[in-house]
Amino acid sequence: MALKDSIQSLMSQVSEMQAANADELEALRIKYLSKKGEITALFNEFRSVPNEQKRELGQLLNQLRQETEGRINELREQFETKAAEADKLDLTRTPDPIALGTRHPLSLVREEIEDIFSRIGFTIAQGPEVEDDKHVYGMLNFAPEHPARDMQDTFFIEKEPGVQKPTDVLLRSHTSSVQTRVMTSQKPPIRVLCPGRVYRNEAISARAHCFFHQVEGLYVDKHVSYADLREALLYFSKEMFGPETKIRLRPSYFPFTEPSAEMDISCNICGGKGCSFCKGTGWVEILGCGMVDPNVLESCGIDSKVYSGYAFGMGVERITNLKYRVKDLRLFSENDVRFLRQFESC
Ligand code: PHE
Repeated sequence: MALKDSIQSLMSQVSEMQAANADELEALRIKYLSKKGEITALFNEFRSVPNEQKRELGQLLNQLRQETEGRINELREQFETKAAEADKLDLTRTPDPIALGTRHPLSLVREEIEDIFSRIGFTIAQGPEVEDDKHVYGMLNFAPEHPARDMQDTFFIEKEPGVQKPTDVLLRSHTSSVQTRVMTSQKPPIRVLCPGRVYRNEAISARAHCFFHQVEGLYVDKHVSYADLREALLYFSKEMFGPETKIRLRPSYFPFTEPSAEMDISCNICGGKGCSFCKGTGWVEILGCGMVDPNVLESCGIDSKVYSGYAFGMGVERITNLKYRVKDLRLFSENDVRFLRQFESC
């Protein structure tokens, strides 16, 4: 029964027939149903089959032909509907709205600070976050056993994992390290703004974090005076917090500046009248500053008899809190979209 076997094997081939496009489908039609096709060949063979088998094999052959035609039509319809759908595509339609992210409030404020100082000639300088003791403390006039190293809660980096030997590799605890890098690599006049992340080993709470952001400014030239520092800071405060803003400088101490000061601005929430934010004083502290200590200039190879300079440093989180009244520092690093979306239009 060779013919019956051939019919059955074609039957199973046909039921699994697939075509990827109209050309492939036409090739299948030719393969099976054309004058020289495999099914036509079986019909030719059928003529010489003994009479008693004609009825059974005839039925099978007809069934094979019908199924083949049916399957080919089915595949053809699939192509036609796909083509019709493709015609319906409107390529001029704008794509679905893509949800845009928002600027981070700290980036917004950092850029605003950079913009304000760039208008009076400051350019941006950057330095590494993993630093050495020399650039973060040594060259900045911190004595070897100076408690400020502890005061600033420095993160020291273990040279061998798990072994806490004394090490001079650390995460910078202030961006003043960029001052020393700039002063050793450039000649005055120097007028740079150093934004960056700093690290301090503090327990994380609403009011403290183990990392935060600073912007430090440094100006070194001939005849730079304390009055220049005050003018630059007054200009900045008015630009940042509004033209009514007043400033006051209070004596303070930093190893790398002499004299040193802390600067307050008139409380921008109550306008200086006294409120809970400024604890009734009408003033809020926003930065540290001073005249660069001659020892620092000398340790960076700058002649302190010819040049003088001022420096200031502020926390970006602090300025952002004042501008946007963010009460919990942790919000800045948790990336909660409900918080970040509030800055969408800024
Ligand atoms: N580096 C100081 C701090 O981290 C800030 C500062 C910078 C003070 C420059 C004076 C001059 O607190």
